[in-house]
Amino acid sequence: MKTDHSILDLIGSTPIVRLGNFETDALPPLYAKLESANPGGSSKDRVAKLILQNARESRQLPTGSTIVVAAEGNLGISLAMLAGEFECQCICVTPESVTEEKISLMRALGARVVVTPAQLSTDHPASFVKVARQMSAELDKGYFVEPYENPAFLESHYRSTGAEIWQQMNGKISAYVAPIASAGTLCGVGRYLKEKDPGIKVIGVEPLGSAYAKPEANQQPFHTRLDGVGSTTIRPLFDAAVVDDIRQISDRVAISHARELARSQGILVGGSSGLALAGALEYRKTAAQPGSVPIVILFADSGTRYLSTIFDDRWMHEAQFGGEDSVHETLNDLLGSEIRPALIFAYEDENVDQAVAKLSAAGVSQLPVLTRDEQLVGITTEFRLLEYLLNQKDEGASQTTLTDANVIDEDVPTLDRDMPIDDVLNLFSQHQTAIIMEDDPFTGKKRVSGILTQIDLLDYLAKR
Ligand SMILES: Cc1ncc(COP(=O)(O)O)c(C=O)c1O
Repeated sequence: MKTDHSILDLIGSTPIVRLGNFETDALPPLYAKLESANPGGSSKDRVAKLILQNARESRQLPTGSTIVVAAEGNLGISLAMLAGEFECQCICVTPESVTEEKISLMRALGARVVVTPAQLSTDHPASFVKVARQMSAELDKGYFVEPYENPAFLESHYRSTGAEIWQQMNGKISAYVAPIASAGTLCGVGRYLKEKDPGIKVIGVEPLGSAYAKPEANQQPFHTRLDGVGSTTIRPLFDAAVVDDIRQISDRVAISHARELARSQGILVGGSSGLALAGALEYRKTAAQPGSVPIVILFADSGTRYLSTIFDDRWMHEAQFGGEDSVHETLNDLLGSEIRPALIFAYEDENVDQAVAKLSAAGVSQLPVLTRDEQLVGITTEFRLLEYLLNQKDEGASQTTLTDANVIDEDVPTLDRDMPIDDVLNLFSQHQTAIIMEDDPFTGKKRVSGILTQIDLLDYLAKR
């Protein structure tokens, strides 16, 4: 039986898997190094382990210290996971743009999490880096971990990830592709592989507008919805002598590749892995030598920490990543081009008798109730009318208006055609009927255009 002594021993030795769905005749096959298999779910476990071991050896991290990390997520999770093993506490200072799953993971692993505003430059006093530095300086035994320039980023990947890839592939690698932020992962592995075989190409992939592809256009702000990738500056760990090519990929394409990997190969990894895969495919198509010597791509983390973002249809819709590869269904898909019967309704000042006549003539069991200028008041149903007539013994009760008879239910939800089907379903967990609204092309106002019932929804879902 082989056992390990602690969580530290479980870091590294991650698997490499062939991406069979992306094979093309005559072009090199793609393999992925799955860093999600580390115990903390990302490549940053290797980095955190080396940072803490170095700090302990150099006596900068005595037991009882508080590790304060400025992290956009993964490094914080890894340090939170290892802090206990070093008999330390951990505080993660993280921008609010980080996913809720990552924050929950840091907390679950015992860290205190301090959330700072997103989108601040790293030298703004309220930025996560400045706040973390300040907090660690104020603590009695604070140990600050910097997120972009620590040489351990490069060294850990040189020593462990690079050596593993070389061994696992038996030295048969034509190119290595990785996402870039600090460039530690790219250049650490790249340097190791190039030392073994200078013919191996090293390709970095970053979001559109990030700095590495065009160093001369440095310091330009750029925006990405992907976690942990891209940079406004060329970071000191970047080693131009090791890197052959930089590819830029849009968030939309990166995310659709991550989703495709999950759906087609069961490989659930983050947006930076989708970015790396898309960059590798582009490189293979435009620059790779034909042949069968594999391209190895580094997948930095697990997709489970992005379930509320890139794997969530509603988030995709709100972030406007729907587009052509959208899997987002709306009420419009349900209503389709089907011609719906002309809407039958009652006015609020019509009487109970008239409403009953309309219901029975149309064979329906509910009617939207409108004002005379066609604004929605609510809904009346067969049941409410029956209940009213049974309780009113007076002659002439059926001549009372719907308003006076108090048979209008105003608590009826309204739906727009572009409402996601998931939202419609949620709504029907509390309501039996909803009113569909549409823009009136003549008045520009919203007008009632139909009723949707639970049966309509069931019918659609069953036929789908
Ligand atoms: C998800 C993810 N992908 C890629 C990277 C890029 O790694 P590096 O900083 O080594 O360039 C990171 C770094 O934090 C990351 O968290």
